[in-house]
Amino acid sequence: MRVLIIGGGGREHALACCLAKSSRISEIVCTPGNAGTAALGRNAVVNAADHDALLRFAQDESIDLIIVGPEQPLCDGIVDKFQAAGLRIFGPTAAAARIEGDKAYAKMLMRRAHIPTAEAHVFDRHQDARDYVASREAGVVVKAAGLAGGKGVFVCPDPADAMLAVDSIMVAGEFGDAGRTVIVEELLKGQELSVFALVDDRTIYVLDTAQDHKPIGEGDTGPNTGGMGAISPAPIATADVMATVEREVLVPIVDALRSDGAPYRGLLYVGLMLTAGGPKVLEFNCRFGDPETQALLMRLDSDLLDVIEAVVDGRLAETEIKWNPKSAVTVVMASEGYPGPFERSKTIEGLDVAGSMNDVRVFHAATRRIGGRVITTGGRVLGVTALGAGLAEAKRLAYEAVDVIRFDNAYCRRDIADKAIAAAAARA
Ligand code: AMP
Ligand code: GLY
Repeated sequence: MRVLIIGGGGREHALACCLAKSSRISEIVCTPGNAGTAALGRNAVVNAADHDALLRFAQDESIDLIIVGPEQPLCDGIVDKFQAAGLRIFGPTAAAARIEGDKAYAKMLMRRAHIPTAEAHVFDRHQDARDYVASREAGVVVKAAGLAGGKGVFVCPDPADAMLAVDSIMVAGEFGDAGRTVIVEELLKGQELSVFALVDDRTIYVLDTAQDHKPIGEGDTGPNTGGMGAISPAPIATADVMATVEREVLVPIVDALRSDGAPYRGLLYVGLMLTAGGPKVLEFNCRFGDPETQALLMRLDSDLLDVIEAVVDGRLAETEIKWNPKSAVTVVMASEGYPGPFERSKTIEGLDVAGSMNDVRVFHAATRRIGGRVITTGGRVLGVTALGAGLAEAKRLAYEAVDVIRFDNAYCRRDIADKAIAAAAARA
């Protein structure tokens, strides 16, 4: 079987690594891919925004299964188009992906289905948003309703900053059309958790747990990023929390989508805040999270191809997924300056040594091979991932591997997993 993966980050390399273990796969093609995916199969250059070109490519290459990594092509309807052409593709239709692509829609569905989430107001008019923010004394969160590459959310403990955020989204047009509608919501406090579920219209299969580390700085300080590290399992995701999320969030949202004529098939990601009043939804995503997927898939003992095909073919109810009981820690090595401006094209050294360490896997995110060298091409460069008997051992191994990898201006947080390790020690 020939598989095409659309995307080129750490998530896609982790998916490709898992699929490469499947005996039924003859070739993995990735577009655009990175130096990591190139080593497992082949990278192809196809304009990702041009779905006709992607479709022609998949047909010309006799691709049997397509897996879509990022949200943009899903929200733009790539699944609808490929399915109409008779291809097998993993991911939700545009109508179902709207759960991520339109935060106002997601809020409306949540409200209708009584799903716990931050209280929110939706504004299409700038002055209305300003008037509302001016009436608030407590901090708020201001969000562009559309897709903004993870940058359209402003957490504003000071309402004065919320006013600036509303202006930059709605007047300066920082996110273009994605900011035509703005959501102003209650600022929730607590620890964040990502819950991943596979969904095939009706069946919901909740995956093992993982947690992201979003802020750039140690101790969870500084601006939010796409994620600077991840752990799996996530000790804060207790059986109780997971049962609550399944009952109060996943079941009602999957029902609500189906009743809305948008049955969900693919990976549904719930971003949650574990508040004193229970788990509350921050957002839904219509795809695997990154870097959480790197830590999570490191622990997958089943054949990922079987799992993905079960979703695509609507056989999820018959599927069982096995997880390695060990813990995984992913440390993201980034380019200094990210999530702001940073330099690229730095040569990365030490990849082979790190990659040959036991229970270590270096997932590539923003890398490219040029001749005999691998260079950096973006902000989040690598996801150095290790398995250990517990989180502390996985963390030690991950940083041992990080320490043999070098590139100019490399930056990583040194405290990935610490909060979970400390919490576990306090409980013991
Ligand atoms: P989102 O893309 O909506 O998940 O927002 C990105 C990040 O902003 C989240 O991962 C949280 O760290 C933060 N955030 C979003 N909504 C809220 C909220 N209502 N209260 C506190 N933090 C939030
Ligand atoms: N790690 C956050 C995300 O994938 O959206």
